[in-house]
Amino acid sequence: METNKKPIHLVINEEGHDFLVDETESLLNVLRGAGYYSVKSGCDDGTCGICMVLMNGKPTLSCKTKAIQVDGAQITTLEGLSKGDELHPLQEAFVETGAIQCGFCTPAQILAAKALLDKNSDPSDEEVRKALNGVLCRCTGYVRTVDAVQRAAAEMRGEKIVAVEVLERELPEQINQIDLPAEYYRMNNEKQTLPPVVFTPKGMKATKVVGKGEVKVDARKLAQGKPVFTDDIKMEGMLYGALLTSPHAHARIRKIDASKARALPGVKAVLTHVDIPRIKYASGGQSYPQPHPYDQVSLDNKVRHVGDRVAIVAAETPEIAQQALELIEVDYEVLLAVVDMEAAMQEGAVVIHDEDDTEGIYDAKHNIVVHIDAEVGDVEKAFAEADQVFEGEYRTPMQQQAHLEPHVCITYFDEDERMIIRTSTQVPFHIRRMVAPLIDMPVKDIRVIKPRIGGGFGNKQELILEDICALLTKATGKPVRMEFTRTQEFISSRRRHANIVRYKVGIKGEKVTAADLYLIGDTGAYGCHALTVNMVGGFKGLTLYNPPNSRFVSDVVYTNTVPAGAFRGYGAMQCEYGIEVLMGEIAEKIGYDMVEFKRINWLKMGEEMYLSKQLGEGREGVEQSLKTTAMAECVDIGRKLTDFDDKRKRYLDQKGRYRKGIGMAVVMHGSGIADLDMAAATLKMNDDGSFNLLIGATDLGTGSDTILGQIAAEVLGIPLEDVIVYSSDTDFTPFDTGAYASSTTYISGGAVKKAAEKVKAMILDHAANMLDVSDVSSLVLGDRKVQAADGRSVTMEEIALSSLHQLNQHQIMATASHVSSLSPPPTAAQFVEIDLDMETGHITPERLLMVVDCGRVINPLTAAGQVEGGMSQALGFALTEEMLFDQDGQPLNPSFGKYHIPRASQMPPTDVVFVQTDEPSGPFGAKSVAEISIDGVAPAMASAIHNATGVWMRELPYTPERVIKNLKAS
Ligand code: FES
Ligand code: FES
Repeated sequence: METNKKPIHLVINEEGHDFLVDETESLLNVLRGAGYYSVKSGCDDGTCGICMVLMNGKPTLSCKTKAIQVDGAQITTLEGLSKGDELHPLQEAFVETGAIQCGFCTPAQILAAKALLDKNSDPSDEEVRKALNGVLCRCTGYVRTVDAVQRAAAEMRGEKIVAVEVLERELPEQINQIDLPAEYYRMNNEKQTLPPVVFTPKGMKATKVVGKGEVKVDARKLAQGKPVFTDDIKMEGMLYGALLTSPHAHARIRKIDASKARALPGVKAVLTHVDIPRIKYASGGQSYPQPHPYDQVSLDNKVRHVGDRVAIVAAETPEIAQQALELIEVDYEVLLAVVDMEAAMQEGAVVIHDEDDTEGIYDAKHNIVVHIDAEVGDVEKAFAEADQVFEGEYRTPMQQQAHLEPHVCITYFDEDERMIIRTSTQVPFHIRRMVAPLIDMPVKDIRVIKPRIGGGFGNKQELILEDICALLTKATGKPVRMEFTRTQEFISSRRRHANIVRYKVGIKGEKVTAADLYLIGDTGAYGCHALTVNMVGGFKGLTLYNPPNSRFVSDVVYTNTVPAGAFRGYGAMQCEYGIEVLMGEIAEKIGYDMVEFKRINWLKMGEEMYLSKQLGEGREGVEQSLKTTAMAECVDIGRKLTDFDDKRKRYLDQKGRYRKGIGMAVVMHGSGIADLDMAAATLKMNDDGSFNLLIGATDLGTGSDTILGQIAAEVLGIPLEDVIVYSSDTDFTPFDTGAYASSTTYISGGAVKKAAEKVKAMILDHAANMLDVSDVSSLVLGDRKVQAADGRSVTMEEIALSSLHQLNQHQIMATASHVSSLSPPPTAAQFVEIDLDMETGHITPERLLMVVDCGRVINPLTAAGQVEGGMSQALGFALTEEMLFDQDGQPLNPSFGKYHIPRASQMPPTDVVFVQTDEPSGPFGAKSVAEISIDGVAPAMASAIHNATGVWMRELPYTPERVIKNLKAS
């Protein structure tokens, strides 16, 4: 094999290296093979940019560069930027500003910025965005990235750098009294994003570590490009797994012959549906028992979407694995496909799940996987008594999560013959439980390790690769690695449910008295999250305005498209979009100010959420009421900061080609799933008074490891640096349902707080012993020590050493679990300003502002990052992102070249303001922030388009073609 290879010499980070490469081998492959793991891969067509390196000083896509053609080149990777422990100013700035979330794009972002600064030491923001444009980031919205580059540039110019800012203000009685620097009011066409603002109501208890913009605990290693992700290891004898996917949207496999593939030298295993037992499962990573139906098997004799699993291969190299896939002969009986969710329900439509061993499909003959029906009050009576009744139908598209790190998994047997699954997952504990029957091993013999994750947004709350990778390890006895290509991410992973959202709303005077929501959900080929996503949609969509007479009916439908799963926003964003647009339409029709009409009707403090008991996410819910909200303050602050009322009036009379518009929407979300989500945390004291915090919670890049560390540090009176956070490994960290449902801060944070309080009690007990104090309550813990009333004190280190080695020896440690019977909603107001070209229909977003009540903000920098990133994904949802299929179910845009997520230069100034509330059930008053951030841009965009043009648009995304069509129709 080696004979076809040719020698090349590369100077990588100033060190010479010799390689033998074949003609087609990419520079990316060579660099990763040589251990330069900072160089990442995220696409198949040269569009993501995250494989970027500097070649002879120039940004270069290593995936598109043949190694053989660059013999002698000087290559710089991120590993080459820091000198020992000393970071390059760009790395420092990325760490300090919070520009790093998952960190998967960070190496390429930093190198792109370095190339810019090497040429231009004083770039404008626009130039920075242009330089970063080639490197996609799905997490950040590029806000802090641009800030980081500017800070590094200033430092490299020798200028004095001001600390990263968060503006803290007391919330005044009257919103008119808020005093922020003039630029926050955007009267001066200022284009830059501004530092986040945190408003705190009078009397809210001060905290020391909680509430501070601490640097993320993993930021430094991510800024250095250290090998922290699933795929950043190479194991001795590791095989490469590959998946054969279906070219047809619907077909039966009449025969499958893998003999030629098996005969190929280097192939170690080929498995098809005839080689493995038929065990039914549901792939959505949810709590036990998982909602029905169990409509999948690891490899089936029928395929139901293009990209469905057909066969798997393990081979010595990725190339041999690909060749083997091509040698598998499949005889398909191609069946009619149905891709339209309404057509799929019709009598006579092709039946997608005609197998007889799937239990729990509501109406398989009509492809209805789930039917939901819930009502409170008397809806028909309320409609009959209403002054007016309004109806509207809204459509939302399939959206791809588009995390930059693809699904990737490495499985192997350890020395005790236990199956180790190293995987990029949001739900390690669910994966362990779900995979066990599929690979016929007991849970106790499976260990799931979750390294750092390069983004997930719900798509990694799913069993995608782990079962088939482990089956290949079982078949070969060898370590096996499997990774999706970007195309497979689009056709074989999951996506957001497309929805048809039909509302009927009755009003009496200006009060909404009745609402009926009929929701059709497109779950694609399998019902992974069919029940729960649409149930959440109904609950949130009918609770935002909470009429006492509400009815929710939903049909969730199979189609021959890629399955729908979890995606940030999880049904709520689709239904809140519908009701928000309809509320705007109603206000216009009844001649009422839109904001005031919403204000009269939105869910108020203390109000019971009428449908909470009936719509409990797959099981009976819990009665809930709103305990904290700053909705009104969020709206009024946003109005003031955007000059909303004046602009809105001014924009009504526009003529000409380019029109401005400003819009707003209110939104709410939840914090975990009431009485279902459970998290545990363990805290263990070390000799030096530091602590290990072991958590099953899963940081997807959100910063949850950091904020959980802050919660522990706050209770224990220590700085964050004394908490070593580790997540997650099913052997060593306690259980956590995982990172979804906006649960981590609220539920996992609750567990950490409880564990820390137990540890605190143990510390105080031991200190009382050491100090010979009988009244423990007289002791004060803080500043790394325990102090007695008489001024004597013992340090944390002294307490640790004493408890471990001297006095009444014991380990100071505790584990605590937390569930909550509440899911307190964060609330927010979203503002959008646009410029709309009446001739082309093109919308240019000019500003996004979200004013958010997420309870106590545990870390304003990471929370702002969440909101900025959420708004950026929401902007894609509103304007460009839509997975398309032809009538035969063939995907039309499964690549970043055709499916457009926002790039740096497409993001407008994106500002975040927090209005803190003190949620009594949350850790230090916290609720959640992760998902609410994505809920508001689309309806606020609709409101802005209406302000600019007088037209209400009811179907997303608002592409130029759709805008023009609507303008013409009006
Ligand atoms: Fe090279 Fe995407 S991996 S551009
Ligand atoms: Fe950019 Fe996650 S931080 S992709």
